[in-house]
Formats: sequence, structure tokens, C-alpha cells
Amino acid sequence: MEGETLHWIEVRLLVPETDALELEVFEREILQVTPGGFASESWDAPPLPGEREPVPMGWTRYLVYVGEHVLEPARLALARALTRWPDATLATAPLSDGWRERWKQYFKPLQASPRFVVAPPWEAPEVLVGQHLIVIEPAMAFGTAQHETTALCLTGIDRLYAEQDPGPKTVLDVGTGTGILAIAAALLGAEDVTGTDNDPNAVLAARDNLRLNPALAGRRIAFSDTPLDEVPGRFELVVANILTSTLIMLAPALAARVAPGGRLMLSGILAEQAPEIVAVFTAEGLGHEHTEDKNGWVRVDFSAPAA
Ligand SMILES: C[S@@+](CC[C@H](N)C(=O)[O-])C[C@H]1O[C@@H](n2cnc3c(N)ncnc32)[C@H](O)[C@@H]1O
Repeated sequence: MEGETLHWIEVRLLVPETDALELEVFEREILQVTPGGFASESWDAPPLPGEREPVPMGWTRYLVYVGEHVLEPARLALARALTRWPDATLATAPLSDGWRERWKQYFKPLQASPRFVVAPPWEAPEVLVGQHLIVIEPAMAFGTAQHETTALCLTGIDRLYAEQDPGPKTVLDVGTGTGILAIAAALLGAEDVTGTDNDPNAVLAARDNLRLNPALAGRRIAFSDTPLDEVPGRFELVVANILTSTLIMLAPALAARVAPGGRLMLSGILAEQAPEIVAVFTAEGLGHEHTEDKNGWVRVDFSAPAA
């Protein structure tokens, strides 16, 4: 679907001040609905551009952008996320002319790791020699590097390929979203890359994003909605940035996809959930290598025993 022809709706969520952990979980739920991100304005901060009522004292307003075609499921999911606050409200607003230009302001080129710069297609930043530009259209799936979990995975992939020479040649990215992590691994030399997602829109978005990165033209990179159990083979690197509960559910299948001596990188995990992830995946026979934290989110790395 072309971004320019998609009709977008602004969903406004008004939530009371609350503790940081609860807000993080809430924001995570929003991100499942609005892959391109969201904006938030607090009552005591300067208002965001656009015509809206001032935010009432003690409240925060979230602006969530969803495609018209998914408005109903998005509205239901957001309403469910709001049930934790009895007074929270949800309203939808048609977007005024020029909103897309304003929305674009939220997506600026971002240096996500020493070698990865992520940018939307309407920006074409110069990158330094040795750096890689990843072009991602932020509209249709999760994964722009703005979220800590994506940035943590990019940092992990960057470091792994810097430390290992040659780096992993076969890579599986489970829950690929925009395809950003699969694209990143391919840019650093992975030769056979598979990205899967159970959301068919994400698969389409990942394929579109691959085309936005011409340096990868002709490379063996396949995106599909094949369930993990049906993905054939084992991979030198498996990466999965999904909710902790899903990672735990998929643990046996994820561990089984890691080649002997290979790596598993998991994210989508809050710091306090890391011990459970370590326990579950070490019980699958993997060794815990490293846990990296970014603003309360973590990436947990494992290795499979050598053959
Ligand atoms: C947090 S996003 C990660 C996107 C991207 N890999 C990144 O790091 O930014 C999680 C993705 O996992 C997908 N997903 C959720 N459950 C899944 C499952 N059981 N199997 C495959 N994909 C799943 C979602 O549709 C979503 O695109």
C-alpha cells in the first residue's frame, strides 16, 4: 500500500500521571498498534504542533496514528490498554491538511549504533565511511530504531559482526516488523537471511523496505509469515524482538533454530523480566552470554553449545 494514499486517523488518548513502569508497559501496548510510533504531550510541557485542546493539569495526551483500514481493531486494542485507568479517554480526529508533513517531523535520521544510521525514505543523510544507512518507511510495521528494543538489537548485531570475522552468514529474524534487523544483518555480510512475522502487513512492509535499500538488491533475503515451527534449518544468528510472554511461548522453537555455536539475541524485554528469560532459555540448553540495558529495556544474548 502506498503511504501517500493511505488514510490516517489521529487517535488521542488522555491518561492520568502514573508510575514509570506502568507507562512503559502502556507505551509498549500502543506500539503494537501504531508501528510508526506515537507522540505524547504532558500538561506541563510545550504543546505539540496542531490544533487541540490544552492537556488538562496532571494528564498526558498520547497521539497515535493509525491507518483508516485498521482503525477498528486499533481502537479496540487501545481501549483495552486504557482500562487500567478508569478516567482515561479515547477520541479520534480526522487529520487536517498537511498532517503528513508534520508527522514526518517525528522521523529523523537516527544513529542507532556505531555503524547503523536509520532514516525514513524522505531523508537521505550522508553516512560516514564504514557506516551503513538503513532506509525504513515508518508507516506500516514496528521497527524504526526509535524504540529501545530495536536499537538494542541493532547495537547487538553491530557488535557481533565487529567481534566475529566472519560474522554469522545465516540469520533468522523472528517478528521482523519493518525488516530492520534482517536488513541490518545483511548489510554487515549475512548471506542468507530469513525474516518472519505473523502479521501479513509487516511482511509486506519488510519487502517494501528491502526495496528501499538498493545495496541489498539481488541478495538472499526472504520475508514471510511462515510460523516459526515450519521454518526449516538452523541459523548462526537468531534474533527476536517480541513481547516477553511470546518469547517464552516460542522458547523451544527459537532454541531449536540456533545452529551449534550460534547466537540467539532476544529483546522486547523489560529489565525486571530478564531473569525469567534467562531461566527459560538456559533450560532450553543455551548459555547466557550478556544482558544489555537501555532505559529499562534489555536485550539478552545466548549462545548454543558447539557441535
Ligand atoms: C516489537 S516488533 C519488532 C520489529 C522489529 N524486529 C524490531 O526489532 O523493531 C514485534 C513483531 O513481532 C511480530 N510477532 C508477534 N508475535 C509473533 C509470533 N508469534 N510470530 C512471529 N511474529 C510475531 C509482530 O507482528 C511485530 O511485527
